[in-house]
Amino acid sequence: MTSSNSKQIVAEAAIGHLGDATIIGIGTGSTANLFIDALAPYANQLEGAVASSEESARRLQLAGIDVLELNETGSLPLYVDGADEFNIHRQLIKGGGGALTREKIVAGASRKFICIADGKKRVNLLGSFPLPVEVIPMARSYVARELIKLGGQPVYRQGFVSDNGNLILDVHNLDFTDPVALESEIDHIAGVVCNGLFARRPADLVITTDDRGQLVEL
Ligand code: 5RP
Repeated sequence: MTSSNSKQIVAEAAIGHLGDATIIGIGTGSTANLFIDALAPYANQLEGAVASSEESARRLQLAGIDVLELNETGSLPLYVDGADEFNIHRQLIKGGGGALTREKIVAGASRKFICIADGKKRVNLLGSFPLPVEVIPMARSYVARELIKLGGQPVYRQGFVSDNGNLILDVHNLDFTDPVALESEIDHIAGVVCNGLFARRPADLVITTDDRGQLVEL
């Protein structure tokens, strides 16, 4: 089973969890894109969707789904998004696509967060995937020095600017034994906008696949 097959399976499975939601939050990335494609036939049943990135907003529009502003919708019944890593506690590393800040906002504003992820992304301990940290441009070097003090090795994501006009540091070698504490500690560095650790607000459900490509819900 390839990753792309697995992504297709989990994206389609998430459709079964729409319930009576008429407005949903939609994440960013290749798995979220497959979910948008699977959602297209249901466009008439939806009032619209809140997108976590400009890229997803464009894809939603192409699928015939209205893009709504979170400030107008209030809290959402459901948010569906991918992840770069997940653990048994449904804690995630996200932000490989650089959309972590809006993703965390929409996840926080949603009553249910379903993560759809290829089974190869399951880990016992988070952190093989470098943790994306979004920073205000003028704070880039300062934040990098502070992350080094925490034991991390930050790498500047060259040539990337987030939808919010900020930069990304991808941080290797952090200690993830207490993900909730690490998430808070990084957020408290001045100049950090957001980090891609979703531990304080983990997913409520992870839809993934096992080694044989069978659906698994965690
Ligand atoms: C984007 C994300 C994505 O959810 C994450 O990178 C997974 O992407 P993909 O579905 O393409 O594997 O956090 O910021």
